Amino acid sequence: MSSGIAFVNGRYVFKKEAMVNVEDRGYQFADGVYEVIAVSNSRLIDLDAHLDRLSRSLAELEIAWPLKRRVLVLIFSKLIKRNNLKDGNIYLQISRGVANRNHSFPKTRVRPSLVITVSKFGRPSDKKFREGVKVVTMQENRWSRPDIKSIALLPNVLAKEFAYKKDSFETWFLDVDQTITEGSSTNAWIVHPKGEIVTRELGTKILGGITRARMVELARSAGMFVTEKPFSLQDALSAEEAFITSTTSLVMPVIEIDGKTIGSGRPGPVALKLKKLYEEFCIKGGVK
Ligand code: PDD
Repeated sequence: MSSGIAFVNGRYVFKKEAMVNVEDRGYQFADGVYEVIAVSNSRLIDLDAHLDRLSRSLAELEIAWPLKRRVLVLIFSKLIKRNNLKDGNIYLQISRGVANRNHSFPKTRVRPSLVITVSKFGRPSDKKFREGVKVVTMQENRWSRPDIKSIALLPNVLAKEFAYKKDSFETWFLDVDQTITEGSSTNAWIVHPKGEIVTRELGTKILGGITRARMVELARSAGMFVTEKPFSLQDALSAEEAFITSTTSLVMPVIEIDGKTIGSGRPGPVALKLKKLYEEFCIKGGVK
């Protein structure tokens, strides 16, 4: 459920009344970047990592920071307070700004547009976590830089709709060599029968998920064996377990891929343990 007050280009406004310019390059060209940051018990989870990734996305697209980083954090805190947000997400979007429609960057200085909204209760149901979810696959059809958290998400939107139509939770993209890259809005993981936990390595083929990075760290600290490398659809189908991670799905067990049962067909011990570790981290971690 989305929540009342947003921050739009320098002002706190009711979201219902908030407007963006029709010549905004975000609207016209998807020329912008975004972040989704979890709020747990009114605390921002992995804030620095999200802002570091934002900084990188902006730099890759040569978009300037619209505000100083510490001012942005103050706005987050204000929005959390004003919306009385306990558990939910912050959505932040920065576009290159408003200019007459012309594909190349504006040649005069334009101010990047900044929109921040909050939403409550963005998580999947407990039932989904308890029972696990189904995943389908489709051929990778995104641009070659999904490591940049760009707002150009049409292939991701179509992939998520493809999953929905197949009564599934997520679509995993298949690279030309039939390895899995990631999901439409999540990172993909499997657990080999001998206990090795595998997720695709960082690079240009996937978004470097903040939840993914946190899980790698938490799992290794707990003595679990994590390898960051490609895995194939075949590997996934013969895995003991599979799961996905993201800010909004946390650690979600996957019990079926393309109609084939994974492992026991129930959420496995590794996914459940990682979910517990992540929840414990969210209780202790985060900044107010
Ligand atoms: N999606 N891969 C893709 C393509 C994503 O869009 C996301 C996040 C992730 C996981 O990243 P993180 O752990 O930082 O949330 C991986 C967000 C939640 C979204 O678009 O709503």
